[in-house]
Amino acid sequence: CNVVVLISGSGSNLQALIDSQSDSNPARIGAVISNRADAYGLQRAQAAGIPTQVLSHREFADREAFDAALMAAIDAFQPDLVVLAGFMRILTPGFVRHYQGRLLNIHPSLLPRHKGLDTHNRAVAAGDAEHGCSVHFVTEELDGGPVAIQAAIPIRPDESVAQLTDRVHVEEHRIYPLAVRWFAEGRLRLGEQGAMLDGEKL
Ligand code: GRF
Repeated sequence: CNVVVLISGSGSNLQALIDSQSDSNPARIGAVISNRADAYGLQRAQAAGIPTQVLSHREFADREAFDAALMAAIDAFQPDLVVLAGFMRILTPGFVRHYQGRLLNIHPSLLPRHKGLDTHNRAVAAGDAEHGCSVHFVTEELDGGPVAIQAAIPIRPDESVAQLTDRVHVEEHRIYPLAVRWFAEGRLRLGEQGAMLDGEKL
């Protein structure tokens, strides 16, 4: 299963995906594409011998033009799966439709709670008892697609938002490789009613 990973920044989730590659795992990262030339994740990919490409959104007149170029760049690698790993761009409906059923994202909250940005602060400010992260299929609704797997952790009364953020990251790095592996193994797919694992609706 050929996987193209899109990043914008640190790429710690990319690193977790790189580290999960093994002879028994059918997921193979064929390329990493970043919209920012200074994304540290590009160095992680290069260190692992994975081809990289930079496509800056600033070089395009509008979102449609950027997404069209991004699609062409991705499709040149002929991926079976496209993985958003801290890719900080909102994608056009045309892009999302093109990769329907083969586009995954990780979001740092227990969806449907806290869609959008600044999720850790918002979870604490809301007085939530627990927080976490979700891997979901991407649909046209921002952070609204069917969830494949979530990890929940209790929010400790005495911890800082930074500590909570770090603890959520640990969970992200656990569940994203798992979901990608399930997809590569043919166990996880997007059905008519939502995400399916081993033929059962999630
Ligand atoms: C993660 O928190 C992820 O949930 C969110 O963006 C962040 C990316 O972090 N979508 P990294 O680049 O993988 O370190």
